[in-house]
Amino acid sequence: MARLKIGVLISGRGSNLQALIDACAAPDFPAEIALVLSNKADAFGLERAAKAGVPGAVVSHRDFPGDKQAFEQAMDAKLREAGVELVCLAGFMRLLSPWFVEQWRDRLINIHPSLLPSFKGLDTHERALAAGVRFHGCTVHYVRPEMDEGPIIVQAAVPVLPSDDAHALGDRVLDSEHRIYPQAVRLIAEGRARVEGDVVVIDGAVPTQPSVINPPA
Ligand code: GRF
Repeated sequence: MARLKIGVLISGRGSNLQALIDACAAPDFPAEIALVLSNKADAFGLERAAKAGVPGAVVSHRDFPGDKQAFEQAMDAKLREAGVELVCLAGFMRLLSPWFVEQWRDRLINIHPSLLPSFKGLDTHERALAAGVRFHGCTVHYVRPEMDEGPIIVQAAVPVLPSDDAHALGDRVLDSEHRIYPQAVRLIAEGRARVEGDVVVIDGAVPTQPSVINPPA
């Protein structure tokens, strides 16, 4: 079966990109990375792509001062040229316009370091600690024009521990990000994730885990 061609948009270190590279290295994974696109020439993720023999390209927003649409059109053209079928945002730090989001509607996903719809935006780990939540986590979701909105595909919850600072909690969440991003791509590539209105229906999903309580009784 043909593998789904994904494009990964990055701005920085690219640890989620690495998780996708590693997943795609398995012969039975149903997707392959057709292009890694960065808006920053010095993004470490580009080195990861080069090392893995994955095509990388830079479209810098700085080359299009004051013209977001031209910047996004340049990215769009590169993605289409590479035959990309699904765009994965992985630490891409520019807010995309409704125009771009509509071009890729239901073919554009993001990973966010919180259990959406809680803690949209930045500094999610600090805010989760300040709110005193007992569980935090991460979400892979389809992208809609509003920031960190859109039908949820996969989430992972992690416990918040009494000893946590934002760094320790963030590391625990990141670990889960690296597990659920490939899982979400697999579900889409296998045609098992269907957008129905504001939610995603997963074919064949059967809950098998008991509830988890934190702190434990
Ligand atoms: C991750 O925490 C991701 O959830 C957020 O940006 C960070 C990117 O990290 N959107 P990396 O570049 O994948 O290491």
